Amino acid sequence: MALQLGDTVPDFTQNSQLGPINLYDFAGDSWVVLFSHPADYTPVCTTELGEVSRLRAEWDKRNVKTIALSVDSAESHKGWICDINETQSTSVDYPILADEDKKVSDLYGMIHPNSLNNLTVRSVFIIDPNKKLRLQITYPASTGRNFHEILRVIDSLQLTDHHQVATPVNWKDGEDCVVVPSIPTDEARNKFPKGVTEIRPYLRMTPQPNK
Ligand code: BEZ
Repeated sequence: MALQLGDTVPDFTQNSQLGPINLYDFAGDSWVVLFSHPADYTPVCTTELGEVSRLRAEWDKRNVKTIALSVDSAESHKGWICDINETQSTSVDYPILADEDKKVSDLYGMIHPNSLNNLTVRSVFIIDPNKKLRLQITYPASTGRNFHEILRVIDSLQLTDHHQVATPVNWKDGEDCVVVPSIPTDEARNKFPKGVTEIRPYLRMTPQPNK
C-alpha cells in the first residue's frame, strides 16, 4: 500500500556516491528530505540538485538532512556531480542514492509507470525525527521543484509541533498564525499573550508564538 502521512517510513540501506547509506542511521535525530529525480545528466535535475546544495545553511538551520535518489549508478552520480558543481556554482555534499535495483523507489512508490516508464518521478518526502512521514509531494518530470516551498513546510511543521497554531495560506516564517479550532477564544487569549484577533468565531489569528 502507498505510504500515507503519519506512517513510519520504511528503513533501507542503499548505495550512494558516498558509499552505503542506511536511512535510519543517517537520519539520527534529524529531519530528512528524501527526494527522487528521473535521471542523472538531465537539465532540470541538474538545477534542482544544485539548489538543494546551495541551500545547505537553510537545511542545517532547521536540522534537516537531504538525500537524493535516482536509478542511475554511483559512478554516474560521481561524474554528474562534477557537472552540477561546475554549472550550478556549488559543491554537492549530500548522498545521491544509486537505486539501480529500484529497492527504495519501489518501497516509497517513486515510479509512476503511466507518467514515466522505469524512471523515478520527482517525489519529495519530509520525514520527522520519529521517522514519521509528514509530507509527500509528487511533481512531473518536466517541472523542477521549488525547494523554498519545502523549507516553508518544514518551518510550519516545526512550529505547529510545539504550538497550538496552524499556518494560513502562503504563510512564511514570522507571519501571523491561525489558532487551532479546538481552543476556545477565551482560552486562546491566555495562551497567546501577544493577542488574538477574532475575525469569525472559527477564524482567529495570533502573531507567531515563537518569534
Ligand atoms: C530533466 O531533468 O531535465 C528532465 C528529466 C526527465 C524528463 C524531462 C526533463
